[in-house]
Amino acid sequence: MATDSAPKPRRLWRWLVYLALALFFLGAAGTTTVYALSTSRLNQRYDVTPRPVFIPDDDPREIARGRYLASTLMGCVDCHGDNFAGRVVVNDPAIGLMAGPNLTRGKGSRTRDFHDIDWVRAIRHGVAKDGRPLVLMPATDFNGFGDDDLGAVIAFLKQLPPVDNETPPISVGPLARVLMLAGEITLSAELIDHEAERPITPPPGPTREYGKVLANVCTGCHGFSFSGGKIPGAPPEWPAARNITPDKATGIGTYTFEDFRRVLREGKRKNGDQLSEVMPYKLYKDMSEDDITALWLYLKTVEPKPAGGR
Ligand code: HEC
Ligand code: HEC
Repeated sequence: MATDSAPKPRRLWRWLVYLALALFFLGAAGTTTVYALSTSRLNQRYDVTPRPVFIPDDDPREIARGRYLASTLMGCVDCHGDNFAGRVVVNDPAIGLMAGPNLTRGKGSRTRDFHDIDWVRAIRHGVAKDGRPLVLMPATDFNGFGDDDLGAVIAFLKQLPPVDNETPPISVGPLARVLMLAGEITLSAELIDHEAERPITPPPGPTREYGKVLANVCTGCHGFSFSGGKIPGAPPEWPAARNITPDKATGIGTYTFEDFRRVLREGKRKNGDQLSEVMPYKLYKDMSEDDITALWLYLKTVEPKPAGGR
């Protein structure tokens, strides 16, 4: 039984309606703001005219090197498919529908009309032909690669046999938009300094200097300081990336070259534990000895940091 001091059921009802309406409008305003702000970032135009890169179109050795880089270290196959004709990578109502598009000249191709410079703009800068920032395409991983490697990858992609495959257009879901505004998800085009002088890059080889170039592909997950932590924008079930600095307690400071190689070739830690497939050892198992050596020589010399600082 309601006492006199308690609101009459009728009045309580009305308050509840007000509260619901208020929440609804606040929610709608919030949603509208999130959509407006994230859309303005997705619709931003980047006027990028990259410096031209020599593409060794007729050099079978360079094309083979390009195939190797695209299929192992750079992981293009992960998002563009084993035959580079595209595949859906994310299909989740909250995050969105995101497919790596068809990079062959078949039906559904997004690159058929590309000039060499358009390839450079996409891969090195994360920017589409029309200046739009590419979503999910990790150009920050590739920006540090030199003209030799980038040219080889482009030469390889240009000679791919056409495969017909239409992929759906990118749509960015509500949670991904919130994460974008929170700074958890970033667009490569926003992070890259498009005007920067190109660094002089060392030639490929088993050297510390070249290892520094290769290690760019590890930063998306292990962080720019390599100390690991939660991977930004990753699904909740993904494990954190581990510390791959030479920190003795939480990093790979006690690993030998053999231990390090086993991680890349077999996905096994020093203590024998099997790593999650989020660590792309299935791609890295085909890495050349030279490249594993280069990575090792470089990672041994980065600043030791406790785990999780990214
Ligand atoms: C993590 C997933 C991922 C990886 C790895 C990846 N891409 Fe992409 N890539 C995408 C997505 C998604 C798009 C489409 C983005 C958009 O339209 O906003 C894209 C777009 C592109 C485009 C531009 C097409 C256009 O519309 O202008 C090119 C070229 C491309 N990728 C090449 C590569 C190459 C080469 C590699 C490896 C060196 C690579 N990608 C690695 C996800 C990826
Ligand atoms: C797509 C994300 C991703 C990329 C890219 C990636 N890693 Fe990892 N890596 C992980 C995750 C996640 C783990 C931990 C997995 C687990 O705990 O099961 C890991 C674990 C490792 C370990 C094991 C460390 C230990 O304590 O045993 C090493 C070594 C390693 N990564 C090296 C690399 C190197 C070198 C690169 C670049 C060539 C790289 N990773 C690129 C996600 C990634």
